[in-house]
Amino acid sequence: MEIVRTLEELHAARKKLEGTVGLVPTMGFLHAGHISLVKKAAETCSHVVVSIFVNPTQFGPTEDFAAYPRDLDKDVALLKEAGVDIVWAPTEDVMYPAGYQTYITVEDVTRVLEGAMRPTHFKGVTTVVAKLFNAVQPDKAFFGQKDAQQVVVLSRMVKDLNYNLEMVVCPIVREQDGLALSSRNTYLDTAQRKAAVVLSRSLRKARAVFASGERSSRVIRAEMDTLFAAEPLVKVQYISIADPDTLQEVEKIDRLALVSMAVYVGKTRLIDNTILGKI
Ligand code: PAJ
Repeated sequence: MEIVRTLEELHAARKKLEGTVGLVPTMGFLHAGHISLVKKAAETCSHVVVSIFVNPTQFGPTEDFAAYPRDLDKDVALLKEAGVDIVWAPTEDVMYPAGYQTYITVEDVTRVLEGAMRPTHFKGVTTVVAKLFNAVQPDKAFFGQKDAQQVVVLSRMVKDLNYNLEMVVCPIVREQDGLALSSRNTYLDTAQRKAAVVLSRSLRKARAVFASGERSSRVIRAEMDTLFAAEPLVKVQYISIADPDTLQEVEKIDRLALVSMAVYVGKTRLIDNTILGKI
């Protein structure tokens, strides 16, 4: 496994790879969710490149960029074990050198949900992922359904900018009790960690109510609200029931719906989601 930092080193290492290349973009502090993407990439591509870069442009001015957890040595050890060919861990200087001024904007699907709460977030995500795609030239790129809107936004960008690659979306990896794995879970203390189970519990509730035949978003959301009301450590920022493609809210669920949420557990912001209906 090669660990490269500069663009020149990346290009030299990339040139040596024959066959198909899968890219797994990450911000590091890797957990089993990230590793599930790496495994899928290794199963379906001849070679795997993993990028590790805590991207400053996708954090808002009051968000946790400085505090975001980092452990490159541990990440490298995990990736070696997973059979990765190249780890690309660029510095901020490599990605955004002095004078940098080019950004990518995806329009409608970034205005809602996470985009409404974090207005500059997706501009940072699309810009950095476009730069990663340009540098690595992958045949496939692997993303987690954990960040459902990120997948919608990046798939739109891939289509609109004619990237010649396949987006592969992998299922959410959860702890035994249902909490979706996230690098930010390390911020939670014991009581908060226990309370955080309410996210996945509320999504299970939504699935059960939907399975019993309920199709009204208002009714499903009310059932979820009841669970959150009983959990004083958790503050809901939003619960959305939306069309999975346009991300526009739906009142009545016809076929499929994306139920997604953002909540605060103390100062920690957590997101989770599920799809209602059969894909
Ligand atoms: P990061 O949060 O490090 O996540 C990297 C990838 O791992 C994303 O595609 C994310 O959806 C996936 N992932 C995270 N937790 C997961 C889980 N519990 N189950 C399955 N997949 C999971 O997402 C980003 O980084 C950044 O926005 C990035 C795309 C790298 C651009 O900077």
